[in-house]
This record gives sequence, structure tokens and C-alpha cells, in this order.
Amino acid sequence: MSTLKNLLDKSSLSREDIILLLQAEGEAMQDLFRKATEVKRFYVQDKVYFRGLIEFSNICSKNCYYCGIRSANRKTERYNLSDDEIVDAAIFAYENGYGSIVLQSGELSNKRFVNRISNLLSKIHGATNQKLRITLSCGEQEKDTYQKWFDLGAIRYLLRIETSNRDLFYKLHPNNRLHDFDNRLKCLEYLKDVGYQVGTGVMIGLPYQTYDDLAGDLLWMKSIDVDMVGMGPYIEHHDTPLYDLRHLLLPIGKRFELSLKMIALLRILMKDINIAAATALQAIDKTGREKAVEIGANVIMPNITPYSYRDQYKLYENKPMTTDSPDDFLARLEERIKLAKNEIAYNEWGDSKHWEEKQ
Ligand code: 5AD
Ligand code: SF4
Repeated sequence: MSTLKNLLDKSSLSREDIILLLQAEGEAMQDLFRKATEVKRFYVQDKVYFRGLIEFSNICSKNCYYCGIRSANRKTERYNLSDDEIVDAAIFAYENGYGSIVLQSGELSNKRFVNRISNLLSKIHGATNQKLRITLSCGEQEKDTYQKWFDLGAIRYLLRIETSNRDLFYKLHPNNRLHDFDNRLKCLEYLKDVGYQVGTGVMIGLPYQTYDDLAGDLLWMKSIDVDMVGMGPYIEHHDTPLYDLRHLLLPIGKRFELSLKMIALLRILMKDINIAAATALQAIDKTGREKAVEIGANVIMPNITPYSYRDQYKLYENKPMTTDSPDDFLARLEERIKLAKNEIAYNEWGDSKHWEEKQ
């Protein structure tokens, strides 16, 4: 145990160190969390930025083996919010001081979809006096498309790699043109070239995933110098092929704990980036996101998708589905963040400090 504590005082962590720390339990795990809390306080303060998450469509052309809205899942009813519904949700975020929204959907790349996002960017900026930061999470696209959306005022882009281990990637996705590990890497390069604040992420506790893989994920994030990360536990969904491998999974509580350790280690490795407390944490533990905030995360993405659609954006089981009114929900979240000794930064964009330093 004392050896693990000594590791935390080292100026840089090796792959072997990270692998050991990912296995920390009990007091050693608490030491890791304490260290990450200190790093967070020093570099990005005890603050949480809100991003209003708008899951505007669950129509997806891809077939990832783990995801409930994969195209082959005929049991999911598909929806597509109207432009007005999306703009209204953006106005809600603006009026409630969120400072920032995320537009997320299943992945499409046809012309109609690309043009629709372009129009939406203009509409949202028009309706909110250019005061909202807009993050897109709309998958792999052509470089020209990324450029067009950037020129129209999207500043940040999220594209998870899911795992940085190529072999594992192909155990989670069909091996075809639509699911191409190298293209995903290329897209992350494009996004960086265009000038976005770039976010990526992985799932934690996947079948076949090792501690070495997870250490590799953290080091890979550092090597590509990301500005933002959102990562959380893998949660099985019964209507997906990966469900058949559920006997290989760590117990759900362990996947949760491992996710917190990943977040803490990432905060120590990349001190000034933005780290989101993934919604999947909340699916396991009601206060999971606040626990992540306490030990390193500094972004929460409250779901502001209109209530009637939320049930249909089910990537995994037990996805949290608040039926509280927006005001009650916010009051409760504020209370819990206070308990996590953090403060909500209302009306702030909360750009990644790491990205700001590079400008
Ligand atoms: N469990 C956890 N996360 C999932 N995602 C998709 N399916 C699951 C699942 N079963 C995540 C992926 C994707 C993001 C939008 O949701 O990482 O990039
Ligand atoms: Fe589509 Fe994303 Fe789900 Fe894959 S993870 S099936 S790309 S929504």
C-alpha cells in the first residue's frame, strides 16, 4: 500500500505505475482520489461547468455491438427532434445560465444531415445572441464538414475512440468501412487541425479489456493532447450482441469504481483539461456524477432533451430518466454538488484551460 502512495508523489507516471494504481483498493484508492482532488483544486478549481445535453435524434447508421440505438436494433423506436424543439432546448440552457450545450445524435453523414446541422448552428446562435458555446457530438465526418461546422460557430467536438486498443476496437465493432479504427483516429486529427477543442473518451469495464488497455487509453489521450475527455463505465444492453459476453464483465460496482480511478488518474496526468462526469456513472449510482466531480471531473452534462423523447435514447440499460421538473432537478443537483464541495459555474463557457493555453 505504501508503495502505491509513493507512486502518487512521482512527477510522471509510467504505464506500469498506472496499471498498479488502477488496481488500488481501500486506503490506497482513497489516497489516489485525494491526490486527484488536490490537483483539480489547484489547476481548474473546485468548479463544475454545465453543458445542456440535447440528444436530438437516435437514428444511427452504425452498428456498434454495445449500443442500444445501433441500426440493427429494430426494437428501438426512432425519433428526430424538430429544429424548433432543438432551438427551444438551447434557449432553455441559455436562460438558465448553462453557458454551453452539446448536440448529440446517432451517426449519419449524408448531405441532408450535414446541412441540417449547419442550419441549426445558425438558428441556435441567432436565438441566443451568440452567447452559448456549442459542442457537437455527431460522429465521423469529412474534414470539409468539420470545417464548415466550425466556421458556423461550433467550437468543441466530442468523438470517443471507445478503446485505443485496435484489436479490442474490432471486438466491439463490425470490421467494415463504417467502423474503421484508423478513420476514427484520422477524424480526431482533422478536428484538431480545424481548431476545435477536441474531446474523446473510452468505455471502462468492457469485455476482454485489461488494466494494460486502460493504462494505454490514458497514455494515448495524453499523447494526442486532447482538451476534453468524457469516459464512463460500459453498461450492457440486452438488445445488443455484446450482451452475450456479460459473463466476462466485472461486477457493476467494480466497473463504477474503476471508472472513478480512471478519472482520478487522468486528472493527475492531464491537469488542466476538462473532464466530464459521464451520465453512465449516474446509471449505476444516483450520485455517481457528483462522486466523479469530487475526485477530478469538472463538467456535468444535464440532459435537456424534451422529456417525451428521453426514453428512446437508450444506449445502455438503466439510463437515468428524471421525471422531475427542470427546477426541482436543478435544485437537487445544486445541493449534491455542494455536498461534493464544488460550485456550479453559471453563465461561464468553461473552455478547456488546456486548449486556452495553446491559443
Ligand atoms: N455503455 C456505456 N456507454 C455506451 N455508449 C454507447 N453504448 C454504451 C453502453 N452500452 C457510449 C459510447 C458512445 C457514447 C455516445 O455513448 O462511448 O460514444
Ligand atoms: Fe451509433 Fe454511436 Fe451507438 Fe455506435 S455508439 S451505434 S455510432 S449511436
